[in-house]
Amino acid sequence: MKTATASWTRKHLLGLQELSAEEITMILDQAAEFQEMAARGEPKIDALSGTVVANLFFEPSTRTKMSFSLAAKRLSADTLDFTAAASSLSKGETFVDTARNIEAMGVDQVVVRHATSGAPLLLSKKLKASVINAGDGMHEHPTQALLDLFTIRQHRGSIAGLTVTLVGDILHSRVARSNIWALKKLGARVIVCGPSTLIPPHIEALGVEVSNSLDEVLSETDCINLLRIQFERQRSAFFPSIREYAHFFGMNGDRIRKAKKDVLILAPGPINRGVELTPDVADGNHSVILDQVTNGLLVRMAVLYLIHQRRQLSADEHPERSHQGTITGATT
Ligand code: CP
Repeated sequence: MKTATASWTRKHLLGLQELSAEEITMILDQAAEFQEMAARGEPKIDALSGTVVANLFFEPSTRTKMSFSLAAKRLSADTLDFTAAASSLSKGETFVDTARNIEAMGVDQVVVRHATSGAPLLLSKKLKASVINAGDGMHEHPTQALLDLFTIRQHRGSIAGLTVTLVGDILHSRVARSNIWALKKLGARVIVCGPSTLIPPHIEALGVEVSNSLDEVLSETDCINLLRIQFERQRSAFFPSIREYAHFFGMNGDRIRKAKKDVLILAPGPINRGVELTPDVADGNHSVILDQVTNGLLVRMAVLYLIHQRRQLSADEHPERSHQGTITGATT
């Protein structure tokens, strides 16, 4: 296998804001390599054999949790899957104590989703394990944006020069934030589009354009990413009704006909059929929503793999840092 690991230096993946274009591309290229291997009939390798990946999900998830779990297994790691609802959190154990107790079982990489922005950053300061952000509050969802970019690159060849429109609940969306960082670094033009109540003030400072009319930007858009209306994060009414939202910002057959002939329709999921998009669009020729899910596995394999390679290098250079104490052989 080719190796893109020589210059991967990060212990954690907390967000895309701090990554360079080269680092983002490195992850996408590693994911592409895993895609080629799977196509050759080699979906599984033993790169992470003997290591443990813990999935700590303090918020519901279908796609992210399952694909991190499968990604770890495809790399031959052992996995621990924690679900908050069935845990000792209900007995008063704190977030950090929960993570430290699970880490004490010999965990190397922790994948964490939490409703609070900054929860993965906090864990990265408290644990010796590497921490991967699987979505924190309204902050970032880096692997979702990486799989979005991978899917766009797969269908369009590159990101640079494309116009990508993020539609909907930009205000509450960690997916939007991670997409903006990554798309801008890789040279895309980014438009954020939604009701003004769901567009954060001063977002132009991130280098994006703002539109309050999907119909006005349709004809110039190559990729439309339909963000979910996050009812669980909305504390007040941001638009008069779901019906009105769907009328002005929902993707439907009429709007597809007015868009570019090869427009790509993406959605991070879960989708609200009939709100962000109609079923004919979700299941139609322009939709790459299930490709995104397929590619999520590859991107998460790439992240786990690159971080593991960096951990191995670090342990070789600094054997005293090996938390399992097996490299120095100095302890009994
Ligand atoms: N897109 C996404 O994060 O989906 P899940 O909440 O199901 O993981």
